[in-house]
Amino acid sequence: MTILVAYATTYGATGGIAEHIARELTAAGHDAEARPAAAVKDVSGCSAVVVGGAVFAGRWHRDARAFVRRHHDALRARPVWLFSSGPLGTATHDKDGNDLVEASRPLDLAKHEQLTGARGSTVFFGALDPSRLNRAGRLMMRVPAAREVMIEGDFRDWPAIGAWARSIADELAPAS
Ligand SMILES: Cc1cc2nc3c(=O)[nH]c(=O)nc-3n(C[C@H](O)[C@H](O)[C@H](O)COP(=O)(O)O)c2cc1C
Repeated sequence: MTILVAYATTYGATGGIAEHIARELTAAGHDAEARPAAAVKDVSGCSAVVVGGAVFAGRWHRDARAFVRRHHDALRARPVWLFSSGPLGTATHDKDGNDLVEASRPLDLAKHEQLTGARGSTVFFGALDPSRLNRAGRLMMRVPAAREVMIEGDFRDWPAIGAWARSIADELAPAS
């Protein structure tokens, strides 16, 4: 059975993380596939599910939230992990000394952990290309406080993403 890596992305960074996780799971001997969360109609054929979403204005991507709403009964019946693709930049702490990864954890992630009975969840650094922003994103860039944290670049930490995927592969029974 397949491990599904369902992702919710607006600009592509989270999709790239999901593809990387699926590749690592495959390399570890599992059958794994990354798909946009909005396109998944049924998870009954999946042995386990990883759900990932970008974070916008402190919230997990709406397609990730909708995916959990649609499938929470089926998700509770199988191993689930969640991730968000959030902060930008290379700093590990904000100017008040708060851990950036912890501060970037979407407030609604805990609720989705409960709904799915997730075995674990994590936050990965994301990516931002200002030339690709939609209207809402461009408007947000005009707000000085938002501009400070919307740092251009690709900050995805591939070794950390790979290590997390391998920890999932290790926790699941080896693929037969
Ligand atoms: C309009 C806008 C708002 C954002 N708000 C947050 C936020 O509240 N917290 C956060 O950690 N990252 C925030 N980000 C950074 C995105 O989560 C990051 O760029 C993410 O990797 C984008 O994923 P995607 O390319 O899959 O859409 C924001 C980015 C944009 C463009």
